[in-house]
Amino acid sequence: MSNNHGLEPNSNYSFDLDINRTKTASLKYDGRQNMFGKAEVIPLWVADMDFAVPPAVTRALSKRAAHPVYGYTLYPESLYESLINWLRQHHGWREVQREWIVMCPGVVPSLHAAALAFSEPGESIIVQPPVYFPFFSAVTDTGRNLVQNPLYSDSGRYAIDFDHLEQCAAGARMLMLCSPHNPVGRVWSKSELERILYIAKKYNLVVFSDEIHADLIYAESEHHILATLAEDPTNIITAVAPSKTFNIPGLNLSALIVPDKNRRISITRAFEFLHVSASNPFSIVAFEAAYREGASWLTDLLAYLQGTRDLVEKYLATHLPKIQVTKPEGTYLLWLDCRKFGMSDAQLKHFFVHEAGVGMSPGTLFGEGGKGFMRMNIGTQRHIITIALENIRRASL
Ligand SMILES: Cc1ncc(COP(=O)(O)O)c(C=O)c1O
Repeated sequence: MSNNHGLEPNSNYSFDLDINRTKTASLKYDGRQNMFGKAEVIPLWVADMDFAVPPAVTRALSKRAAHPVYGYTLYPESLYESLINWLRQHHGWREVQREWIVMCPGVVPSLHAAALAFSEPGESIIVQPPVYFPFFSAVTDTGRNLVQNPLYSDSGRYAIDFDHLEQCAAGARMLMLCSPHNPVGRVWSKSELERILYIAKKYNLVVFSDEIHADLIYAESEHHILATLAEDPTNIITAVAPSKTFNIPGLNLSALIVPDKNRRISITRAFEFLHVSASNPFSIVAFEAAYREGASWLTDLLAYLQGTRDLVEKYLATHLPKIQVTKPEGTYLLWLDCRKFGMSDAQLKHFFVHEAGVGMSPGTLFGEGGKGFMRMNIGTQRHIITIALENIRRASL
């Protein structure tokens, strides 16, 4: 399929193919009225993509659906193997043992479970805003003390304030790290991660490293799983999932890698306490098929997303300089600095939704540092992104 931007069309998979997702109980589409007060917006908000999943995943799900009993489910050994192989082949993490893996129905429930398992009420947990908003609620809903170590922007590239992090760490129990970082798209460098490890060790912090976006890394960047850089990963809990990578977040299955036995016991108890330990027959087959057979799809997806990311950057620089994009090194989420519009956040939301007809996530959702920003999800057909950009440009004239 051709496109208008001189970018190579995708070779093996049809990322340009429109798929009508309305009336599939899709949050992104059928939740628009509720979210934006208007159903006719181009939905570039909640983090799922509009692409068909790897064919192997659909095949595995169809095969499972053809068996007409959908009872309570175990995690088969082959599921663990698929994850261990993926981590070895794609992230160079060779040490992961089968018993280190704790399956869970999503990364957000694990953030909550980790707060319960590894800290006491009133103890401090550090988060780094602007950040994916459940990081805040995981701390506050469990009665822990929220400590914020805001990121700062250095000529449009976000960075960690390490001196401040160290001050926060002195009185804290945990750090909730988002790596790669949603919404600013940073893929933390090896040296940044090593500084985090140094501080964590010095202050005996437990680090919950949410690496759900670890596979969505653009060509010029390299992701390091935090635990792979640690001499002793005992205090690190790593969350991974095929959900963002292979576009199956609605199936709600993720995994924690917990090298320390006592920590595994604690987190498993927390899941039991929350009654969130069971999974379902569909999520397990999709999880396994994605990790086992999804690699070539992912390669093509990343090339497609990278083309779209670059297109947005170029378009904004040429036609809409009032919006500055923080070029993501990973994730399909673009953090747009809209402060040059000179609008309040309510006005910005109104402008994008009602004048441009584009539904993005307001930056204020992500806490401190989000004022005047919008998060754009580019995980859709490229021509839709072009229409959205054109709409914004026209509305801003
Ligand atoms: C950093 C991060 N963690 C977790 C999630 C959601 O995880 P789950 O759907 O597995 O609860 C998201 C979704 O956008 C995310 O960006």
